Amino acid sequence: MKAVVLHELGQPPRVEDVPEPVPADGQELVQVTACPLTNFDRAHAAGTHYSKPAALPAVLGFIAAGRLGDGTRVLFGSPAGTMAEYAVTAREWCKEIPDGLDDETAAAAQNPALSAWMGLDWRGKLEPGQNVLILGATGVTGKLAVQLARRMGAGRVVAAGRNEGVLAELPRLGADATIQLSQPDDALREAFAAHDYHVVLDYLWGHPTEVLLSSLGTTDMELRHAPIRLVQVGVMAGSHISLPAEVLRSSSLEIVGAGSGNAAPVDLITAKLHELMVLLAKGELRIDVNRVPLAEARTVWDLDQRGRRTVLIP
Ligand SMILES: NC(=O)c1ccc[n+]([C@@H]2O[C@H](COP(=O)([O-])OP(=O)(O)OC[C@H]3O[C@@H](n4cnc5c(N)ncnc54)[C@H](OP(=O)(O)O)[C@@H]3O)[C@@H](O)[C@H]2O)c1
Repeated sequence: MKAVVLHELGQPPRVEDVPEPVPADGQELVQVTACPLTNFDRAHAAGTHYSKPAALPAVLGFIAAGRLGDGTRVLFGSPAGTMAEYAVTAREWCKEIPDGLDDETAAAAQNPALSAWMGLDWRGKLEPGQNVLILGATGVTGKLAVQLARRMGAGRVVAAGRNEGVLAELPRLGADATIQLSQPDDALREAFAAHDYHVVLDYLWGHPTEVLLSSLGTTDMELRHAPIRLVQVGVMAGSHISLPAEVLRSSSLEIVGAGSGNAAPVDLITAKLHELMVLLAKGELRIDVNRVPLAEARTVWDLDQRGRRTVLIP
């Protein structure tokens, strides 16, 4: 069967023939119908993510949509790789795709929709009426976070990004205000300071986060408590920041992460995933998808997705 295979960390993967996987006891063979290509897949293959492939060569991909032997349409995960015509997985890792939702949209949305929920709710503890800033709102996950924040009853949703075209779409998805990140630091600091935030979802880190942090501190000794919870989710603009100590004393900033090391319990994730998929099926949440044949995985591997998720079709 054809699969996307990584031979060396940091090198582009290849599409090649590999033996069809054989399910072990308790596992299912799934015919893959759609497999998303995420920034996590890229970072994992590049060796820049904290998770590393157990051994090489390895079939890439962790999640996909597919058909079980009895025809059931499922979303599933597999550490043995999903960017292939077939994959094996445990039955309990297969979640039925609701009627009305196509495989490509389900596969594209699983990771970013759950991540947006994790960031806003599980880690961000967003309460109705509270204000949200989304750094990297023009990305696939950021666009879903804008929509979810609105649905969760956020007070103001402020969306920050670079791509003008995508930024202009965000008010239709629920943003009350947008901030262009590609402006000089002083102007950007002023734009950040024009709003109050309770929760910040940060898909960027690096310089934009440093500018944001420099806008949060106060310059007097008045006693205040205005908590801001910054949820670190992605590192599109850099893996490190410089954090002046005074920011932590002159504001009520708390920084937490959202990732595998602080995930919600599996039962809650499963219930949320179903809820999110139903919203997508009803058109109450939306995600933009680029369908690409699996054979072209290498060509599209590093392309900027411009707010759309690439989904590989075997
Ligand atoms: N921890 C988790 O569970 C989890 C789950 C989902 C996503 N993530 C992470 O979150 C991040 C975003 O994911 P995504 O799915 O939204 O990706 P995406 O669709 O590729 O979007 C990338 C976003 O990053 C912005 N960006 C890229 N380089 C930048 C730079 N140098 N400076 C400023 N902005 C920059 C893009 O802005 P423009 O398009 O405006 O240029 C866009 O908003 C990734 O790091 C991803 O790995 C983590």
